Amino acid sequence: MNEVEVVLSSGITYPVIVGNGALKKLPDLISDGSNRAAIVTQSKIGIAVEPGIENKVFEIDDGEEAKSLTTIGELCSAFASWGLTRADVIIGVGGGVVTDVAGFAAATYHRGVDVIHVPTTLLAQIDAAVGGKTGVNLPEGKNLVGSFWQPRGVVCDLDALDTLPEDELRSGLGELAKYHFLTGDPLDQMELQDRITRAVEIKAGIVGEDEKEQGKRALLNYGHTLGHAIENIGNYEIKHGEAVAIGLVYAAELAYTLERIDHEKVVEHRQVLESYGLPSALPKSMSDEDLLISMTRDKKAVEGFTFVLDGPNGLEVVQGIEENFVRETLKKVR
Ligand code: GLY
Repeated sequence: MNEVEVVLSSGITYPVIVGNGALKKLPDLISDGSNRAAIVTQSKIGIAVEPGIENKVFEIDDGEEAKSLTTIGELCSAFASWGLTRADVIIGVGGGVVTDVAGFAAATYHRGVDVIHVPTTLLAQIDAAVGGKTGVNLPEGKNLVGSFWQPRGVVCDLDALDTLPEDELRSGLGELAKYHFLTGDPLDQMELQDRITRAVEIKAGIVGEDEKEQGKRALLNYGHTLGHAIENIGNYEIKHGEAVAIGLVYAAELAYTLERIDHEKVVEHRQVLESYGLPSALPKSMSDEDLLISMTRDKKAVEGFTFVLDGPNGLEVVQGIEENFVRETLKKVR
C-alpha cells in the first residue's frame, strides 16, 4: 500500500492511500466525532463500503447531467431528513461526477462537513478526488459553480479498477498523459500502483503550493480549455479524458503556431497520446464557432483566449491570445 500526504500551505494535511484493498483503511480516516456517514454513490458503482459507523446510501443519477445544482439540492434535503449533522461525514464513492458532487454538497451542507473520497475510476483516483476542487455544471459550461473543499482523506482501492469499462479507462489515460507533459515522467512505463501514486504525488505537489489556483495549479488545466468546450458541445457524450487528449494536441499545435515550441514537441504530444490509444482529432460535427464561444466562457479566460501552453520555460498560462490564431489552429485537429 502506498500513501501520499497532501500538505497544504493553510496547514491542512491529508492522506491519499493507494493500493489493492485500500478500502480497509476507510474507518481510520473518519473523525472520532462523527456518528453517521452519508455515502454518496451511483447504482452502477456497486462498491459497498464499511465506514464502521451508522451509515446510509444516497444514490445520484449517472452522467454529467447529474452534476447539477438540482442534485445538490436534492442530496442536501435528503441529508437533512436523515438528520446528518455538521459533526458527521459524507463519503463519495464513484468517479469524478460523484466525488465532485459529494465534495460540493459537503462544502455547503451546514456550511461545511467532513468528506472522504473513495474514487473508483482511474480518472478520479489520479485527478478529480485529490486537491479539493468540487462543483457542478451549468448549461453554459462545465464546473462553473463550485468550491475548494479539501477531503479528510482519499482511498484509491485498485480493486475498483478491475471492473472499469474500457472507455472509462481511456478517459483516465487522457489525464495521465497530461501528467506526462507536466513533468516528463515516464508514467507509461510504471506498474499501475506506482503510476497512480506518482500522478497523485505530482498533483499533491502542485496543489500544496497553490491550493486555490492563483498560480501554478492552473497548469493542471493543460489541454482543458478546448477539452471542456468539446465536452460541453458534445453534451458530455465524449469522455473527459478523450476530450482532454484532443485538447492537449491542440494546445501543442497552438504553442507551435505562436512559435513557443518547435515541431518535434508537437510530434511528441501526438506520439504519447497515440501510445495511450487516445484520439487527436475533433468530432466532425463540432463547428469552429461553437468551440470558440465555449472556450471564451472558460473559467481561466480573463481577457481574450487563455490557454496553458508549452514554451521555452515549460508550461505556462498564456492570456490574451488573438482569435485568428485560435481559429486557424483548429484546422490542425480536424
Ligand atoms: N483537475 C484540475 C485541478 O484539480 O486543479
